[in-house]
Parts: sequence; C-alpha cells; structure tokens
Amino acid sequence: MSEIQILPEHLINQIAAGEVVERPASVVKELIENAIDAGADQIFINVLEGGKQLISVLDNGQGMSPEDALMALERHATSKIKTLGDLESIQTLGFRGEALAAISAVCNFELNTCRLEDEGGFQVRVEGGKAPRTAKLGFPKGTKISVENLFFNQPARLKFLKSTKTEQLHIHELVIRQSLAHPNIQFKLTQDKQLVLNLPKGQDLLSRIADCFGSEIASELVLIEHEEGYLKFKGYFSHPAQARSSKRWQHCFVNGRWVKDRVLSQAIYEGYKTLLMKNMHPMFFMSLTIAPKEIDVNCHPAKTEIRIKNPALIHTIFSTQLQKALKEAGRRRFFTADEEAEARRGEASTVREAFMPGSPPPPQAPSKLFVEINDQLGFSGAPPKPAPKPENRPEPPRAPLNRPEPSEVLPFLAPDTPIRPQPSHLGQSSPFSAIGQLAGKYILAEGGERLILVDQHSAHERIRFEEIRGDFYAQRLSTHNLMIPLILELPPTDGLLLEQFEADWNKLGFIITPFGGNDYAVKEVPSILKDKDVGGLIRSVLDEMSRFGRSGKMEIFFNEVFERMACHSAIRAGQSLSLPEMQSLLNQLAGLDLQIHCPHGRPVLVEIGLNELDKRFKRIV
Ligand SMILES: Nc1ncnc2c1ncn2[C@@H]1O[C@H](COP(=O)(O)OP(=O)(O)OP(=O)(O)O)[C@@H](O)[C@H]1O
Ligand SMILES: [Mg+2]
Repeated sequence: MSEIQILPEHLINQIAAGEVVERPASVVKELIENAIDAGADQIFINVLEGGKQLISVLDNGQGMSPEDALMALERHATSKIKTLGDLESIQTLGFRGEALAAISAVCNFELNTCRLEDEGGFQVRVEGGKAPRTAKLGFPKGTKISVENLFFNQPARLKFLKSTKTEQLHIHELVIRQSLAHPNIQFKLTQDKQLVLNLPKGQDLLSRIADCFGSEIASELVLIEHEEGYLKFKGYFSHPAQARSSKRWQHCFVNGRWVKDRVLSQAIYEGYKTLLMKNMHPMFFMSLTIAPKEIDVNCHPAKTEIRIKNPALIHTIFSTQLQKALKEAGRRRFFTADEEAEARRGEASTVREAFMPGSPPPPQAPSKLFVEINDQLGFSGAPPKPAPKPENRPEPPRAPLNRPEPSEVLPFLAPDTPIRPQPSHLGQSSPFSAIGQLAGKYILAEGGERLILVDQHSAHERIRFEEIRGDFYAQRLSTHNLMIPLILELPPTDGLLLEQFEADWNKLGFIITPFGGNDYAVKEVPSILKDKDVGGLIRSVLDEMSRFGRSGKMEIFFNEVFERMACHSAIRAGQSLSLPEMQSLLNQLAGLDLQIHCPHGRPVLVEIGLNELDKRFKRIV
C-alpha cells in the first residue's frame, strides 16, 4: 500500500488556518474585511478575553442565501473572483476563498445571515471543522459571525497566544487600521463588555484620525493630494516637528487595504529627508488608489503585503510631492505673516530703528562675520545673499560636466534635488525682526505677534547645507581624479545597470569604465567623496537600483557629507552676533524652503505666540 495519502479536508483546513489565523486579531481582520466586501456601513465587533473566549462581528451588509452560507465555509469558495483575469483586477479585500474555511476549522463557529429579499434568517454552526449544522432563525439583514474558543482543538497554537491584554491591544490596533482605511463606515468595538471605540459612519479621513488619535494631532497634519495617470493619493502627514520615536502612527492604505510596503515607506522617508532627527519617524495616514492591475495583492495569505509593478514611478511621485508639500507647510507655519501682523511688524521695526540709529543695514547687505567665516573655510557663497552668480565662481578643476536637463530624472536621485533659494524668495526679508541674542546661542526675534528663538548654529547650518548642496548639483563643486583607479568586481546585472546609466553617473562626477570581465575601473569621483568608501557606495546604489529601479542611497550619502561640511562651516554657539548679523541670518533663512530644521533634523527655531504669553501672564485663562 502506498505510504502517501491525501489528507482529510478538515486537516487541510487546520493546516491552512496556520497561515491565515495567527491570533485573534487575524480573525477580526478577516471578518471585518468580509463585512466591508459585503457593502456594510455598520460593523460591530464584540470581544471577550482578548478574543480567546469570543469574537463576534455583526454587519449590515448584503447577507448570504442559505446555499451560499454553507458554501462560504468550503475551502477555495469565493464570490469575489472567477477567472485568472479577475485576480489581476481585484477590487475587494478578500479573494482567496479560504478565510472562513480556515477559521471554522479551529473554533466553535456560528454564522447567522439574512438578505433583504429573504423571509427569515439562516444559521450555520460548525464545531472545529466538523460537519455543519443548520437552522432557520429570525435575523435582520446582514451577517453575524461568532468565533468561540479559538484554537480549542489546536493546543500548540493556543499555547502561543499572549496575555488577554496583549491580544486586546492587537485587536484594538487592527480595528483602528481598518477604520482609518474606511472612514465612511461605522465601527463599534466592545472588549469585555466595555465600549472602547465608537466611530460614526460618514466621516472623512481627517475626522477619523481625530477620533482615533485626538484632535491635537489631527490639526497639525499636512494634507497632500495628488492625481497622476493611473494613481491618486490623499494623505495626512506629520510636520517634521511632530515626528515620533516609534513607527506606530504610520498607516498606508492601497485601494482600501492596510498594507506594509517598503516601496511606499521608503518614498515617504525620502520625502522627509534631512527634515527628521535620527531615530525619529513621521506619522502618516496615506490612502493610495491605483489601477488594480498595477499591483499584485496575492503575495501572502494575510494580504497585507503587495507588489507594486512600477516602484520607481511611485517612489518618484511620492517623494517629490511630499517634499514639496512639507516645504510649503514649513513656510506657511513660520514665515508667512498675515497682512495685519506684517503691518505691526513694520511699526515695530520703525521703533527699533529709532532706538538704534543707523544700525541695521539693508537686509541683503553682506554680513562681515559671515563673509569672514566663509572666506576662512574657502566657501564663496558667503551669506547673506545676493545669490552667487555662476560666472563669479571659481571654475572646477576638470572640464565641466554636462548639466542634467531639468526634465531628466536620474534613477538614483530625486528629480527636485538641487534645492537653491527659489527666485521668489531671493532678496526676501524675514517677517521677523531680530531683537537680541540669548546666551550667545539663540537669536530672539519678533514678528506677526510671535516671539521666535532661533538656534544660530542650526540655522546657519541649514543655510550652508542648502548652498553646498545646490553648488554640488549645479556642478560647481569639483571632481577628484584617482591616481590608482579603484577596481570593482560587480555581478553581471549590476555591471549592466552601471553601463546603462553611465551618463547619469558622469553627471554626478563619477567616471567608471569597463575593465575586462566583470571588473570596472572607477577613475574619477566627486571631490566630496575623496576619502570615502566609494566602492561600498556604488555597490549599495546598484543593489538598490536592481531591486527598486532607482536608489536614494547616493543622495543619502551625499547629504551626510554635505551635513558635515555645513556643520563645520556654520557659526558656532557661543559666538556673539550684532543685530544686523542676526537680521541677515533671519533673512537668509526666510529665503530657503526648508528652514525649520537643521540638516540633522534638529529644530532651527521655536516660537511663542501672543496667546501663550497672555496665558502665562494670566491675561487670559
Ligand atoms: N459578512 C459577510 N457578508 C456577506 N457575505 C459574506 C460575508 N462573509 C463571507 N461572505 C461570503 O463568503 C465567501 C467566503 O468568505 P471567505 O472570507 O472565506 O473568502 P473570501 O473573502 O472570498 O476570500 P479571502 O479568503 O481572501 O478572505 C465570500 O466570498 C463571500 O461571498
Ligand atoms: Mg474574506
């Protein structure tokens, strides 16, 4: 007799349950997703003992006929896809036809359902995957599924469940995720008879965020909406100043599905580049709608992972839009004084001029101290502006490389990389007027009924960083000729990538030529990378490009070098400044887009509003 046998159906289902049902929260997820797919706009979840004793999910969706209710518990039974073609254009959250079969194999399961057109309801009960028992009963339109004694017939899995508190937290987190993905649906969560969440239907994403996390967080978020080709996204992103030490507040939804996706999160982090402090993470709630054929959701039984067909495009669009919106938000937050406040600022500065006759030079006049510092360090772009004219700059030692056309998108750099003060901001004076210096470190300034304190080192560091970076990408910084070329042995695919994008590497100051076999000779590198691990950098960029079609590594690396250069060339804490010098620093800061954080992500300025002062002086309570 053959040793090999086909396993019995209930055992197959129990094995499959291992993939779908990891813990009570996975059951809640599958049942909520079924309710959403059934068109429900009210979903009530009731849980006892962290789901170990009971999970029930009641919805007001379309319900099932008695035949379908029985069929739904079979393995590979689904109403959501019929053909392979359907798999490529999935609009529903479920499609594998295995969740109910798997769940009902590992618990005492009860399903009650009724459609609008049915006379009465129908019940199916299954004990740990055994034959179903059915009954008729009165039931309103919709479906209620109850899962009792989860894993009662799987002692090994039961042992792995965590404390009631932990499982409750997982369920709470899961319901929050689903509710954020579908703010139009009412979600009610009761845990051990306590109503812990009651989110009304018909909300928009922002009010849902406010209900879940508090209106203070919601009010500070930056809205970003964008539509391009086959994708559309809308999201709320934290201001860099609101970054957190944990990634708990990061939510990405793709076509209504909460997902964990590296491409999306990398693109978002790239949008925040140089705005976050080390080990700090942005909060985001981002909903992406994309043509279903552009993603593959069938990568994992839990359906929380997706594969994006064109990651490079998504990466570029996301990071560019985000960076643009964050710059704008930073500008709005600190540097746009309303007309009234502007007028008051004008009055205030008149008073000060009378107080210090003849002292402040016009805002754009060069500051002696800055000129000295920058001269000493060999940087020509001495603040304050006017912006350096290219023809006044020293020629780079090697023949100038061709400047990239603005339309070109380097595969390893974001298209908006050169961040120079925008023309509209050049010559702009700050809405803040310097009034003094505190402890040799902070500049005090006032404007628009606000008092601001500027960290002089961080502020100048940000200014220098933008100048150095701008010069580099405008190819005004030099390249370095390696006397002995660096020989790199690369896998054939990486070699091909290198050759394919040769022109782009050249534009950044790299001269790399084939050296026979799989070897490549690095002959020239940007001077800023002279003593750096260039080989490691090139390899990691190629590695990322082969996986994502592009790479942000080069830019991250460059940025780190620019940060160091900026830090060394910036005025120090403890250096006393004259009022005109302080004012010129404020003016330069106002001319930049990313002025509110130093390149390490530390804040450049803090503000104290009149309201806060009035409160402190008990003028208002
Ligand atoms: N709450 C519900 N309301 C109406 N129909 C439901 C409900 N839950 C399940 N069904 C029906 O039962 C079928 C099987 O559900 P099940 O969750 O097992 O598979 P699926 O949702 O199709 O795919 P997946 O395994 O990916 O979740 C569904 O396709 C749907 O037709
Ligand atoms: Mg399902």
